[in-house]
Amino acid sequence: MRHKLRFYFGNELHELDSCAPTLTLLDWLRLEMAKTGTKEGCAEGDCGACTIVVGRLEAGRLTYRALNACILFLPTLDGCQILSVEHLKAGRTLHPVQQALVDFHGSQCGFCTPGIVMSLFALWLNQSNPDIGRIEDVLAGNLCRCTGYRPIIDAAMSLRANPDRDLDPWLRDHADMQSKLLALADDETLSLQSAEGRFLSPATLPDLARLVLQEPQAILVAGATDVGLWVTKGMQQPNVVIALNRVEALTQIHASAQETSFGAMVPLTKLRDVMGAMHPQIDELLRRFGSEQVRNSGTIGGNIANGSPIGDLPPVLIAMNARVVLQRGETERSLPLEAFFLDYKKQDRQQGEFVTRIIVPGLAPQSLFHVSKITKRMDEDISAVCGAFWLELRDGRVLAARLAFGGMAAVPKRAAKAEAALVGEIWSHAAAQAAAHALDLDFSPLDDWRASAAYRRQVAANLLKRLAFETLQPEIQSRTIALGVAHA
Ligand SMILES: Cc1cc2nc3c(=O)[nH]c(=O)nc-3n(C[C@H](O)[C@H](O)[C@H](O)COP(=O)(O)OP(=O)(O)OC[C@H]3O[C@@H](n4cnc5c(N)ncnc54)[C@H](O)[C@@H]3O)c2cc1C
Ligand code: FES
Ligand code: FES
Repeated sequence: MRHKLRFYFGNELHELDSCAPTLTLLDWLRLEMAKTGTKEGCAEGDCGACTIVVGRLEAGRLTYRALNACILFLPTLDGCQILSVEHLKAGRTLHPVQQALVDFHGSQCGFCTPGIVMSLFALWLNQSNPDIGRIEDVLAGNLCRCTGYRPIIDAAMSLRANPDRDLDPWLRDHADMQSKLLALADDETLSLQSAEGRFLSPATLPDLARLVLQEPQAILVAGATDVGLWVTKGMQQPNVVIALNRVEALTQIHASAQETSFGAMVPLTKLRDVMGAMHPQIDELLRRFGSEQVRNSGTIGGNIANGSPIGDLPPVLIAMNARVVLQRGETERSLPLEAFFLDYKKQDRQQGEFVTRIIVPGLAPQSLFHVSKITKRMDEDISAVCGAFWLELRDGRVLAARLAFGGMAAVPKRAAKAEAALVGEIWSHAAAQAAAHALDLDFSPLDDWRASAAYRRQVAANLLKRLAFETLQPEIQSRTIALGVAHA
């Protein structure tokens, strides 16, 4: 057991004997370190004003990611390097990213600017020549009310293939920092006690399993993109927190010819790399899941375990016939993902149990697959309805169907009646229409501020018709492609 939290702030090693389990990185920076360059806008992961860059070891390599400091708990950064906007300027000289925003007039009131600088800085560290689509993805989680995005995107474009990149001290000293972080890595459980509660961070799966059994009241924290809001918006103060992010076994991805197994702690960014390659519509869904900052923190396991009826991954994974694996002590069990969701925010998870991995079968060549996320905004918005459909066809006839929806019931759920209407039929517009009618028997949708029940019913039916158009008349364009700003 180790009782010291250790991390680098820039190049400075910090060792803390005590830390509140849910102290946010933003509060630590602003209130304890008086580093006020990082701003608080929304305090719920939406606006990006608090964006910082965190370097951590991923498979032994130092990797930098942009994250939202407002919903990130400081003690989960054990063994990491934190870079805030204050680390960029060298003496009186601005960092090239900052200088580009000045040169292209990318800042007016300036409140969003540090966050935008840090998002572009993370991109600068990771990629020397990003295209416009990548730049827009990276900026989708940074809201600016003043400038409009054109000057900001122009500034980002001007940084491409910049010869000064090689001189950047954070890149030049990369190997040195990687060695320092490797020297901090250990298998000890980190245990911190403070007046506000206890924070436990095991480094191995057996230690995690033991702690989850021992501490039945503990809140498990993966990427904290849901749990963070319980604290900043729900004003909850969990007394005991168990963080999962140091358990490397939970970050593994194993692929075979038949299926891919994703550890519960696989971040959405990595999930997109692998699942996005399975189908372009899954890639599009994951591109529109939160923002770059949210995808860098949020995990597949968190999206499933929180049991939200409007989570984006459950419909896709249910349509693909995924299984969830749970562990309690040394015992594992697995069940079809659709059986995991029992009722609103109630899952088939016993005390002491946690999600270890999700097993996703491949998409057979003779199957049709479709997923649509319907939101009010294109980027960084939660679904009103998410529909994911898988059909197995033989000689044009539907042999089997899995139609899964989010936003249509208290849990992510299959449309059993609509599936029955399809099976045995020739796949056609008429069959899709019949299935769309049957949806009324399957669902009494949610009626809330995000969308009315009538709207959800109509959209769900339309998505089945869209599936027919996409597969029977692919020449008809049924999707709006996110358009990049034209650049010379
Ligand atoms: C700005 C913003 C935008 C978002 N956009 C989207 C979106 O577009 N689509 C969407 O679906 N969601 C969205 N979310 C919600 C959130 O990002 C996702 O649900 C994410 O996948 C949660 O993962 P996490 O690792 O952050 O979970 P956490 O917040 O760490 O945990 C979530 C819940 O799961 C539990 N938990 C986590 N891991 C495990 C485990 N292995 N075993 C058992 N229990 C576990 C936790 O105790 C908690 O109850 C958004 C959130 C924010 C802040
Ligand atoms: S303050 Fe808005 S994302 Fe953190
Ligand atoms: S410059 Fe004012 S919010 Fe972006």
